[in-house]
Amino acid sequence: MEIEDPISGRIVLRRGSLADLAREIEKLSPQGALVLADRGIEDSWLSHVERALDGAGVEHVVMRMGGESCKSLEWAKAAWEAMADMGLGRKSATVGVGGGAVCDLAGFVASTYMRGTLLALVPTTLLAQVDASIGGKNGVNLTGKNLVGTFYRPDLVLIDPDTLSTLPREEMASGLAEVVKCGVACDPPLLSLVESVGAGLLDPSREELDLVIQRAVAAKVSVVRRDWRDLGPRMRLNLGHTVGHAIEAVSGYSIRHGHAVAIGLVAACRVAERLLGFEHAERVERLLARLGLPTGLPLPPGEVVRAALLDKKSWLGRLAMVLPEDLGSATVRRVPEEVLLEVLEGMAN
Ligand SMILES: NC(=O)c1ccc[n+]([C@@H]2O[C@H](COP(=O)([O-])OP(=O)(O)OC[C@H]3O[C@@H](n4cnc5c(N)ncnc54)[C@H](O)[C@@H]3O)[C@@H](O)[C@H]2O)c1
Repeated sequence: MEIEDPISGRIVLRRGSLADLAREIEKLSPQGALVLADRGIEDSWLSHVERALDGAGVEHVVMRMGGESCKSLEWAKAAWEAMADMGLGRKSATVGVGGGAVCDLAGFVASTYMRGTLLALVPTTLLAQVDASIGGKNGVNLTGKNLVGTFYRPDLVLIDPDTLSTLPREEMASGLAEVVKCGVACDPPLLSLVESVGAGLLDPSREELDLVIQRAVAAKVSVVRRDWRDLGPRMRLNLGHTVGHAIEAVSGYSIRHGHAVAIGLVAACRVAERLLGFEHAERVERLLARLGLPTGLPLPPGEVVRAALLDKKSWLGRLAMVLPEDLGSATVRRVPEEVLLEVLEGMAN
């Protein structure tokens, strides 16, 4: 699958597409590149990327990093300084190879160094392939998650599901949490597809996984195109994230993003059941559990509610959340704090 999109950029999605990277880089013909490479990826994947750059005659330097802690101003500064030391300019490229954290950092660095370089992303976790690399959002964390960042269109997103072959099962599950979210918020047939294969999708070699990635990417591209600044319909993709981000922050980022989103999704569905008569909360919860995702809250509910008040959707100290009205439809609503507290108390492990 190939998509050319004004907001999400050029997306190449195919098993084995890493072999096309040299050709894609040649099309961009960057004048030098900084590669931000995830520590978690196989050296052989990284060599592939380096050979593609060498083949296209692009001088480059590699910085290795990884995990949520690399989404920081310190890492951004280290990248900006490395680019300045190399003498890179606006026709140079920032290349992010790795999970969502590395992709978010790469997008932020690309959009800010000299007010913008070329940007190529090679996402290597399921979560980054279906979500983080799509739609042009990036960011780093301060006291709150993603508090500083920009919207910036990648020139290339190359998705090769073969790179998932080394991904641990719990990281596969983490990516599936965002897929389920996407199904509930905007694509009910995607939800049915995930239900029909179930835990088989935790196996990166399963053919159906390619279809799931394609559908999730296409759904996100289409929602983002209608609202690239996240002020209207795109906000529905934040379903599960008010509580999800709060869980990440309260746990000191020891709970991985997709797992936090799964718990946040259960919370949002249960709040929606009470406030909007949403009828599919149990179905969503059952599916998440089948995929090996957590559905109970392992943290003090009161602390999570306090952290949720810092969410970007809340304003003037009032809690707001994305809530599903029905499958395929979600809306931002004010939520009384006591309702969320009661729901989370009911979910406490
Ligand atoms: N910008 C967006 O629109 C957007 C959307 C969703 C999520 N995000 C962000 O994405 C981040 C989460 O991304 P994530 O779940 O990929 O986490 P991550 O980037 O922390 O990666 C998870 C782990 O997998 C390792 N890894 C990466 N590729 C691997 C591979 N092929 N084999 C083995 N290990 C590998 C990493 O080193 C890390 O330890 C969060 O910071 C979240 O905020 C951004």
